[in-house]
Amino acid sequence: MERGMFISVEGGEGVGKSVFIKNLSHNLSLNYPQKTICVTREPGGTEQAEQIRKLFLNETDNEPWLAISEFCLMSAARSQHVSYKIRPLLEKGQIVLCDRFADSSRVYQGMLGGIKSELIEMLTLNCCNGLEPDLTFILDCDIAVSSQRIEERAKNHKISRFDKKTHEFHANVREAFLRVAASYPSRCKILDASQPPAMIVEDALKMITEHNNGRYAL
Ligand code: TYD
Repeated sequence: MERGMFISVEGGEGVGKSVFIKNLSHNLSLNYPQKTICVTREPGGTEQAEQIRKLFLNETDNEPWLAISEFCLMSAARSQHVSYKIRPLLEKGQIVLCDRFADSSRVYQGMLGGIKSELIEMLTLNCCNGLEPDLTFILDCDIAVSSQRIEERAKNHKISRFDKKTHEFHANVREAFLRVAASYPSRCKILDASQPPAMIVEDALKMITEHNNGRYAL
């Protein structure tokens, strides 16, 4: 059995990742009916990694997570996720769509949190046993657009601690993801997230076909 394809989806808060992943998964299952599409997320994806997610997101005001602690939590969650879920699914030939992966650590704990890139890269390589996404979509849009979406979410009380950060923080996240994209040009593809959802998915499907070019069992 040929190995499946591993696609990660990245971007700052309010760029529309969840809707994009839902649409992409739906379209992939129509385009590749012989394939199973598995959607997963980080931090999380396995029983233990989901416990770590809860710990990480339920930060207390009197003891904020330190960037290094966050990175250790993310790394533990990622190790479990890769070994017990992502790798086995890829070995079965499935398409794995992951909502955030190691690029989020590069951005949030590395570039913004100040953890040295040598440490990020060394631990990430070990946690993943060398596994990297075959393709990474970075959803990118103007901060004005994503801020508007965060405000909408706030009205529905679906707001995380990251959503509560300042305009400057969100601008730095955006810039950091663009830097990651520039560092891994063959793996990372930037998508214009200010477009209507159907067009973003159309662009992504084209990129998957181009990038695949017979490489993975689709
Ligand atoms: P979540 O509420 O799922 O946010 P989003 O919908 O934007 O993905 O929370 C996940 C948060 O975890 C997100 O704000 C970024 C953060 N994160 C890191 O800081 N480092 C990481 O390695 C990962 C995977 C996520």
